[in-house]
Amino acid sequence: MTSKQPLACLVLAAGKGTRMRSMKSKVLHEIAGAPLVAYPIKAAQELGAAPIVAILGHQITEVTKALETRFGTGTIAVVEQKDQKGTGDAVRLGLAPLSGFSGLVLILYGDVPLLRSQTLKEMVDAAQASGGLVMLTAKVPDPAGYGRIVRDPSGKVLCIVEDRDTTAEQKQLNEVNAGIYVAPASFLLEATSKLSPQNAQGELYLTDIVPQAAASIGVGTVNVSAEEMSGINDRAQLVQAEAVMHARINEHWLTHATIRSSHTVCTDADVVIEPDVEIHASVALRGKTKVGAGARIGIGCVLTDTIVGPGCEILPYTVSAQTTIGANCKIGPFAHLRPESELSADVHVGNFVETKKTKIGRGSKANHLSYLGDTIIGERVNVGAGTITCNYNGYQKQQTIIEDGAFIGSDSQLVAPVRVGKNAIVAAGATITQDVPAGALAITRVAQTHLEGYFNRLAARYADHAKTAAEKGKPRKPDTE
Ligand code: UD1
Ligand code: CA
Repeated sequence: MTSKQPLACLVLAAGKGTRMRSMKSKVLHEIAGAPLVAYPIKAAQELGAAPIVAILGHQITEVTKALETRFGTGTIAVVEQKDQKGTGDAVRLGLAPLSGFSGLVLILYGDVPLLRSQTLKEMVDAAQASGGLVMLTAKVPDPAGYGRIVRDPSGKVLCIVEDRDTTAEQKQLNEVNAGIYVAPASFLLEATSKLSPQNAQGELYLTDIVPQAAASIGVGTVNVSAEEMSGINDRAQLVQAEAVMHARINEHWLTHATIRSSHTVCTDADVVIEPDVEIHASVALRGKTKVGAGARIGIGCVLTDTIVGPGCEILPYTVSAQTTIGANCKIGPFAHLRPESELSADVHVGNFVETKKTKIGRGSKANHLSYLGDTIIGERVNVGAGTITCNYNGYQKQQTIIEDGAFIGSDSQLVAPVRVGKNAIVAAGATITQDVPAGALAITRVAQTHLEGYFNRLAARYADHAKTAAEKGKPRKPDTE
């Protein structure tokens, strides 16, 4: 038995993507929260391909940076293709950093995000077994724009003819080239050195390696659906591909979570959903959001890079970003948890409450209409309706600390920097500018006084201010009740 050959991968992504009509490189446009170029790379990684080489040209600096952010510095080798002289030229350049590599090379495109790693594995396995070139093809209803697969009467692949180079007869062929290949590195090196730009576009066509393989190592094909091989050229295709990707991601999580009206739920590629979660319509789970076991996410929530603890109930229209929510919390409806919020277990944050860079201890509650910024709240604290932490003096952000068991009365302002001690009580309507000692009551309002009979005194004073002629001179009737 021959041992398996190692696998390397080239990802072609030097093109401009003119039809996107964008300032941004095509492969940096995102679907399901990841740039297009990340998808083929991730699929190659899943197959264990190494090294992975990206061939970049247009906006090489930005694309390289995106690859570093996503995959780590130095994980993906980058080769520059200054002028886009064709797919054959791109592969020739991409092979340079593979000198000394003897194994199979998988060739992928940066703008084909829907390919499953399972399909690529099938291709690689076929190439391992045959030692030849294996390419991906699809039967499509409308082959316009694609290279056509030309076979002999026995079905053997002879060559690929680019759309612009087809004869009228070849135009009718509906089996097309997906542009994805696996072949031995040694073959690719030799075959790409023999390419010439004798064609309608004056480019080095990678497709011209296929007749060379047919005449030597042999050509095999793996067939996929038109959907799976579809490349992104414009924004309509981008959003279509995203819908397919969202459907796939939701289908995956539906095996152990209930996602109602799942066609309205946008789950990003890096999201994790634990068992027994229930998600309602029009929810967006973005970035590296993780939803803990048994949690429920109500209609219209938008959670970005948010860790939701097990058993939480996130009520409708809650918006959260870069936040950690502990187990069994009850959040929303209409709560806004902004970056660096950290909620311990059993916390309640209710409607129209905004948190930012705020820690809330176990069992504490802020149920109505509050702003809590740059604040540390202990355990079992009650933050009354309308409480505002005044964290900004126009120049600097300052911290508020509310210790365990404290009670903040409604409509209070805590002017930071300030500390409310353990079990202290802030009376409603307070403006707290000094630290409150533990266990004390802080009250800052003016004592309530009563002016008896004030209604009648006022009526008498304004007797001459009658509105109509008929009322003139008649004093407003004092209230005798
Ligand atoms: C290519 C195939 C065609 C196939 C189609 C499938 C060739 C000659 N034709 O055509 O048979 O049906 O893909 O989508 O290969 N790229 C570079 N450098 C270049 C040229 C292209 O990096 O110099 C990259 C592009 O950024 C893109 C990919 O290669 O990611 C494909 O290039 P594109 O110009 O779209 O090829 P097609 O003409 O569509
Ligand atoms: Ca294309």
